Amino acid sequence: MGERYPHEVAAHSSADWPLLELLVTRLQLAPGQLLVDAGCGTGGVGLWLARALSVHLAGLDLSAAAVQHATARATAFVPAERAAFRVAALEATGLPDGCAHAVVCVDALGFATDRTAALREFGRVLAPGGRLALTRALRRDAAPDYEEHARAAGLVLEHVDERPDEPATWERVFRLWIRHADTLVRELGDTEAQNMLATAHRSLPLLPGRRAVLLTLRRPAEDRSPRPGADTMTGPGHQNGGRAMDERTEQ
Ligand SMILES: C[S@@+](CC[C@H](N)C(=O)[O-])C[C@H]1O[C@@H](n2cnc3c(N)ncnc32)[C@H](O)[C@@H]1O
Repeated sequence: MGERYPHEVAAHSSADWPLLELLVTRLQLAPGQLLVDAGCGTGGVGLWLARALSVHLAGLDLSAAAVQHATARATAFVPAERAAFRVAALEATGLPDGCAHAVVCVDALGFATDRTAALREFGRVLAPGGRLALTRALRRDAAPDYEEHARAAGLVLEHVDERPDEPATWERVFRLWIRHADTLVRELGDTEAQNMLATAHRSLPLLPGRRAVLLTLRRPAEDRSPRPGADTMTGPGHQNGGRAMDERTEQ
């Protein structure tokens, strides 16, 4: 994970120190703004970013167990009013239009039933000028589909950062998942844990020849299409955003 990796993040993903550094650089958040962590799992990545960047955090995940876990960990990172987690799908976050200054989605998009719908949803919740940071991976010999991702989200591709260490990180993570399957079930619930374990077994042999990137996509600042709530929300505890985060959307 890297020598300087903050182990408290405890991600169920390839979120190593180089990725955390890239996220800090690429998201370009200002203190007080709202970050959405889509497919947040047990919340470590979003919580670490919320503390490092002094922003508000709205995390969501399909797994009720993961959301419960993330909620329990939040105050170890930020004051209670700065972070809220909800059960929701990537494709239907339940968040207001244009509420987020950034969306981060680490190793979760691949699990979406409808990837295009999830990307469209991220584009919808982003405020003009806001950024989506998304981890993606493909075979080295495959043609990248990054522009397609941007188009699906109604966003513009801003950066493609290579992650050369990602396959080795995944190998370590997959082996840990398999070794600690009972912990995964406890933290994420049976369905999500079984999905992840199946992914681990399927993906381990494919790691050589894998190319991983962090994509940064931006909603154009000049995009002034009406987005109710875009100028009213500064954090999960504020106005409509606060209500949205209190009403859990069970999927
Ligand atoms: C590999 S984990 C990554 C978790 C987290 N982003 C991290 O870096 O630790 C993938 C997460 O995606 C969640 N997930 C899978 N499908 C989802 C969906 N359709 N909507 C929301 N979350 C989903 C799983 O419950 C799991 O927590």
